[in-house]
Amino acid sequence: MSQEIHRVCVCGAGTMGAGIAQTLATAGYSTLVYDVQPAGLERAAQQIEKQLDGAISKGKLAAGSTEKILQRIEFTNDLQACLADLFIEAIVERMEDKVALFNQLAELNHSESIFATNTSSLSVTHLSNQVQNPARVIGLHFFNPAHLMKLVEVITTRQTDPKVLDTAWAWVESIGKKPVRCADTPGFIVNRVARPYYLEAMRLVETGDVSPEQVDRILESAGFKLGPFQLTDLIGQDINLVVSRSVYEQLGRPLRLKPSSLQEEKVNEGKLGRKTGEGFYRY
Ligand SMILES: NC(=O)c1ccc[n+]([C@@H]2O[C@H](COP(=O)([O-])OP(=O)(O)OC[C@H]3O[C@@H](n4cnc5c(N)ncnc54)[C@H](O)[C@@H]3O)[C@@H](O)[C@H]2O)c1
Repeated sequence: MSQEIHRVCVCGAGTMGAGIAQTLATAGYSTLVYDVQPAGLERAAQQIEKQLDGAISKGKLAAGSTEKILQRIEFTNDLQACLADLFIEAIVERMEDKVALFNQLAELNHSESIFATNTSSLSVTHLSNQVQNPARVIGLHFFNPAHLMKLVEVITTRQTDPKVLDTAWAWVESIGKKPVRCADTPGFIVNRVARPYYLEAMRLVETGDVSPEQVDRILESAGFKLGPFQLTDLIGQDINLVVSRSVYEQLGRPLRLKPSSLQEEKVNEGKLGRKTGEGFYRY
């Protein structure tokens, strides 16, 4: 038996939060987007509008849809306004920040609210153990770009209420996505499997024998939709590095998963990819 979800709040209006909010509003949900940075909210609103207009010009969305969809989204930097049946957090990939946010939201909301984390690599069990109502916590891991990618990894802990799982599962399907169950292991399924794709490519470039462009061209011609450098620029080099470090540490530091110094340099230089206008490529 699942419960009714009327209002959803997406926390964090960055790369993922904006895409998730667009998906929900397009599916007809009244959506609140919360971020601590007003500039981030503004960027998200602009990005969603641009994506919707783009979908209309490609014939994927009916003319005149942009306004209707945007009307379903409210943007706020006021935590007190965050009242919802379901929260999807897509804030910074830091355990203490996610724990603090869920505990603050639990104080403000009814006891049936569901708290879903979009973490790429942190332990959902570890997170839920530190929040007020662990039975209401679940992992819902969307993929980038969230408005296009169908897959959502669904992660439960031993404490997740089965009704929360049923509700989250039905809700993921209701927004046109494909839920898959996975265990609460470092990187879940996709981020674990994909790690060597990024790291081996970066190691190759570190030798100085090939360029990021060459590696991307070869892998794209072999059938990958995006080469590893294009893809990490889309993800955000900072996020990808944090995930690499997290998976590496949690698995006992295997050499083959050692984070790349090349990527660390990019992050130190602030070249985070598409979101900053430059990563391995310029945008
Ligand atoms: N980028 C990806 O490809 C990707 C894919 C799947 C999952 N994720 C996960 O999604 C989460 C967000 O990633 P992103 O790439 O969107 O990050 P991002 O850096 O683009 O955006 C994060 C946003 O969260 C806001 N924020 C930070 N702390 C906050 C707080 N306490 N309350 C409210 N807002 C806060 C920031 O202002 C920023 O706008 C991370 O947990 C990441 O691991 C990322």
